[in-house]
Amino acid sequence: MARTIVITGASDGVGAASARQLHDAGERVVVVGRDPDKTRRVAEPLGAPWHVADYADLAQVRGLAETLLAEYPRIDVLANNAGGIFGARRETADSFELTFQVNHLGGFLLTNLLLPRLQESAASVIQTSSVAAQRFSRFDIDDLQGRRRYSASRAYGNAKLANILFTKELHRRFADTGVNAVAFHPGAVATSFASASQGPWRFVYSNPVSRRLLVPVEGGGARLTWLALGKPGVDWQPGGYYANNRPARTSRLADDPGLAKMLWERSAEMVGLS
Ligand SMILES: NC(=O)c1ccc[n+]([C@@H]2O[C@H](COP(=O)([O-])OP(=O)(O)OC[C@H]3O[C@@H](n4cnc5c(N)ncnc54)[C@H](OP(=O)(O)O)[C@@H]3O)[C@@H](O)[C@H]2O)c1
Repeated sequence: MARTIVITGASDGVGAASARQLHDAGERVVVVGRDPDKTRRVAEPLGAPWHVADYADLAQVRGLAETLLAEYPRIDVLANNAGGIFGARRETADSFELTFQVNHLGGFLLTNLLLPRLQESAASVIQTSSVAAQRFSRFDIDDLQGRRRYSASRAYGNAKLANILFTKELHRRFADTGVNAVAFHPGAVATSFASASQGPWRFVYSNPVSRRLLVPVEGGGARLTWLALGKPGVDWQPGGYYANNRPARTSRLADDPGLAKMLWERSAEMVGLS
């Protein structure tokens, strides 16, 4: 029987490629994006339902959760894939640093609001993290908003480490209620990534020569598809972090349960869940 697979950030790049692959594998995909035209253009050829929410506005994430709860009696996979790297430090309508909110707080809130449905469905909850969690993070639990020392790379690395810490804590809290959390790095993939940033990131991802060195978008999508189709505990281990379909190393901080717990509690407070 086809399962229901909700993919955020599915209007482009890794998420869109995976949506197509999962559709071809016979799954029922729910395409979630930010831009309505882009999202419709991905969903329509698949005959898939689609929804939009801008994660820079948490009210829209809450609205998305309400819609998903109303329309889908099962959610077998939630792929928290929406994200990206941005430019100069900016704050959202919710007064949080944009990179942290879009990459971490939005998915954190959506997952929590969907939790009863995810538990009933014994769902897999997949976070698209990045090797940037290891390479660029300077994680400071007391400066989640990057007020002290901001750079786009550091904010992105920190947010991607937050994805892994969230995965670990989701596993610790809810594995025994049927929820299977996992995080992964999709590879350096030729997508629209970094189009809202400046400097070297944007150059690497938009320059036709350097783009040739990146993984084709189908390859990045296939990493997500592998986790979404895989059997937790058999094909991959819940609570883990993967790259190239294998467990991978990341920042040492990802193994600090106290930090994961603290991040959860602070995130919950920020989004008004506590
Ligand atoms: N490409 C890489 O090399 C790479 C490497 C490691 C990790 N990643 C991660 O992979 C994920 C997918 O990125 P991608 O490479 O596929 O990039 P992409 O082509 O730029 O796609 C990003 C997706 O996220 C959505 N998104 C961006 N800002 C959003 C916001 N404020 N609210 C809601 N949705 C938003 C976009 O929606 P719209 O298009 O509708 O605006 C789009 O669907 C991200 O989490 C990224 O950090 C990418």
